[in-house]
Amino acid sequence: MTLTKEMIVEAADYISSVAQMKPEVGLILGSGLGILADHMEQAVSISYADIPHFPQSTVEGHAGELLIGQVQGKPIAMMKGRFHMYEGYGPELTAFPVRVMKELGVKTLLVTNAAGGVNTSFTPGDLMLISDHLNMTGKNPLIGANDDELGPRFPDMSQAYSRRLRELARSAADKLGFSLQEGVYAGLLGPSYETPAEIRMLRTLGADAVGMSTVSEVIVASHAGLEVLGISCISNMAAGILDQPLSHAEVMETTDRVREQFLRLVQTIIPQL
Ligand code: HPA
Repeated sequence: MTLTKEMIVEAADYISSVAQMKPEVGLILGSGLGILADHMEQAVSISYADIPHFPQSTVEGHAGELLIGQVQGKPIAMMKGRFHMYEGYGPELTAFPVRVMKELGVKTLLVTNAAGGVNTSFTPGDLMLISDHLNMTGKNPLIGANDDELGPRFPDMSQAYSRRLRELARSAADKLGFSLQEGVYAGLLGPSYETPAEIRMLRTLGADAVGMSTVSEVIVASHAGLEVLGISCISNMAAGILDQPLSHAEVMETTDRVREQFLRLVQTIIPQL
């Protein structure tokens, strides 16, 4: 499916007609990290079902809602729930909301996710700044004819996760009295969790965390010239590290446990973006 500039503009026009505020920061909330949505001021909620060309989100823990409002006085577009390739969407569709946010005026994108810890020094509940990613999905949202109006044919990915924003996030965490992990996020298709052998492979390749989202969104954000900050909540140790099976319930329990810390971190960062 080719997503055209016209489709992006139609979606953005609809959103602007419902919510007059012009967002400067885009925020994608991962599984179980929806708490920030309850701390927005003057929020207007728009169901994904009402936005032209938006897909529907189908996963438990991912409500399908775009909120336009303020966090600490900063105008924000917040996605509560995102689209994953394992739901059957193509990579360009999973990243379509990023295009729409850019069209709405967003300059900075904050992406969050729940991820498995591949680095054995991590502990469930840690927050990890994403320094870089491994796109292990075998897909790329930019495949197809390039619209030069949206970005270059061969976009640079050497600073896809802004060093400046990572420094800013680290000093915000310092101020709040906790530390952040930092590392490489490997994005896989899912929906099955990885095997222990796959986790050993990913560790050998340099991954610190693993998940099923984010990479296509960040590729499109780079293409669109957005500055990106990525934060993973390490919700579980990846397969084979502990002698126990992985479950979505564990992911949701951990994200629930760290939600206050996550909230305070993001609330401290946002006014500085
Ligand atoms: N693997 C993949 N995706 C995940 C995990 C995991 O261990 N935890 C949360 N999302």
